[in-house]
This record gives sequence, C-alpha cells and structure tokens, in this order.
Amino acid sequence: MSKIIDGKAVAAAVLEECRQEVEQLKARGVTPGLAVVLVGEDPASQVYVGSKVRTCGELGIHSEKIVLPTETTQEDLLAVVERLNADPAIHGILVQSPPPPHIDEEAIVRAIDPAKDVDGFHPENVAKLALEDPSGFVPCTPAGCMRLLKEAGVETKGANAVVIGRSMIVGKPMALLLMAKGSDATVTVAHSRSKDLPGICRQADIVIAAVGRPEMVKADWVREGAVVIDVGINRVEDASRKSGFRLTGDVAYPEVAPKCAAITPVPGGVGPMTIAMLMKNTLISAGRS
Ligand SMILES: NC(=O)c1ccc[n+]([C@@H]2O[C@H](COP(=O)([O-])OP(=O)(O)OC[C@H]3O[C@@H](n4cnc5c(N)ncnc54)[C@H](OP(=O)(O)O)[C@@H]3O)[C@@H](O)[C@H]2O)c1
Repeated sequence: MSKIIDGKAVAAAVLEECRQEVEQLKARGVTPGLAVVLVGEDPASQVYVGSKVRTCGELGIHSEKIVLPTETTQEDLLAVVERLNADPAIHGILVQSPPPPHIDEEAIVRAIDPAKDVDGFHPENVAKLALEDPSGFVPCTPAGCMRLLKEAGVETKGANAVVIGRSMIVGKPMALLLMAKGSDATVTVAHSRSKDLPGICRQADIVIAAVGRPEMVKADWVREGAVVIDVGINRVEDASRKSGFRLTGDVAYPEVAPKCAAITPVPGGVGPMTIAMLMKNTLISAGRS
C-alpha cells in the first residue's frame, strides 16, 4: 500500500510556522513585506499572484501587488524593481513568470536585489545554492519537495534519486538539494535528450518528475517501493468537468501509485508547498533585514 504524501497538510503546517514567525518578527518591530509584480493579463498568472497576496494577508505579511499593463517597457519594469529594492518595507520581490515576450526576464531577475530575491532565481542565489552557502534563497518548489520528503520520513542519504527535468526553477535546484551534504543522495538528472528514460527511472529509489508532460511516467518506469514526487501541473481536456479540463501531473498516478512506498498526488501534492515556501523565504529575508 502506498502512502499518499498530503501536500496540503504539510503546507498548512509550514504556514502555521510562518504565522508564529510573523508574530515574533512583529514583536521585534519588523513587519515582513512581499511585493508581487504582474505584467500583463495572463489568467494563470493572475490566479498565482492572487493566491500569493491572499496568503500574505492570512499570515499578517504586508504585501504590495503591482499590476502593470502588457505594453509596459523593460525600462519601466526595471524602474519598479529599483523602487522596490530601495523600499525598506519590502523584504521579498517577485516578478511573476512568464512576462510578455518583449520583456527580458533574465535581466529583470538580475536587477532584483539578491537579498530580496525570495524566488531564489538571481545568479548570486543560484551560486550560493551550488556552494551550499545558507545565506542565499532556495527556489520555492524544490525547497517544498525537500520538505515533503522530510515530512514523509523518506531517507535520502545514499538513495538513488532521478530528477526528470533540468529547468532552473525546478530540476537543477532539486538535483543540487538532493546531492547536498546532509541530503546525500546519488542524483541522476534526465531531460529530453536522455536515452532510455524508463530504464533510468527504474534505478531510482526516489523519482522527481518535473517535465510538464501529462502522465508521462508509467508504472513500468518505477520500481516497487520507490518514492515518487510529481511536480508537474498539466491541464488536460475533460468534458465531464464544468471547466472542460482537469489538472494532472507528470506521473500516471492510478497505475504508478500502487507500486510506490509514497507518492504525491496532483493536485494537493507539491503545488500547495510552493506558496508556503515563498512565505518562508520572505520571513527569512525579513529576519535578516
Ligand atoms: N507544483 C508547482 O508549484 C510547480 C512549480 C513550477 C513548475 N511546475 C510544473 O512542473 C513542470 C515542469 O516545470 P518547469 O518549469 O521545470 O518546465 P520546463 O522549464 O519546461 O522544463 C521541463 C524539463 O523537462 C524536460 N523534458 C521535456 N520533455 C521531456 C521528455 N519527453 N523526456 C524527458 N524530459 C523531458 C525538458 O528537457 P530539455 O531541457 O532537454 O528541454 C526540461 O528540462 C510543469 O508541469 C510545471 O507546470 C509546478
């Protein structure tokens, strides 16, 4: 019988920790603040930004939501980032991805003060993660996956971990976290050019799927007793739903779950952890300020 790792419950526990940390910070005279910048009208981005701001409100974190029109220039967006960098009431800045195509996202990320880069995407924070320097910020989704593994009592030390996906947001930082001292996993990173992906996955004690392809990981890719963390969030058409779609992960859950020691569902697995870890990072930043 596989154990279902309940991301909603773990995220709720993380947010409860955050609530207490906010009180402690306020007692020291520090009100933590997060600025969320949205350029354009992408509906999914609007939902993400809305839930980040709402979660701040629930925890007593000051938030500033800045919505800019699609035609905002690179220069104007940089000016907003500069203003937030200089604002002592703001400890975390994030510019919701993806921005409109005329915006150079990398340049925007580089313009954010690394000390306020609570997404952990600035090159300085990427380097600190690689160097295992704890003074940086760890990207929220992989940090959330590590917390899920910990809460589920999964032993990473000496485990064979396979990360499918090598993005800067999930795959690469996930691999760094798993191989870091203390986690001590033996990590294989697979991607679209990898040969025999099913065979690679079958070697894994821990599979992290961060691909963006619905139900790609099948039952015969996963060995009996493995732990599977499904990062994927994919919309697939479903006429039986009022919305016309349902969300599914990168793992064929119904066939894979019975073989696993533990697995995260989609939705309700990694998803809720990302915002919770963003709040954590904002409080870390406020604590350092
Ligand atoms: N739960 C959350 O909060 C959260 C947060 C972030 C992302 N996500 C989800 O996680 C998934 C991945 O996100 P991402 O930002 O990392 O995506 P991404 O930037 O598109 O990266 C996808 C990675 O998967 C690899 N890949 C694509 N097709 C493959 C295939 N057939 N076989 C093996 N590898 C393949 C790509 O390889 P190449 O490098 O060779 O192209 C790439 O490294 C998406 O579904 C996204 O929505 C969820």
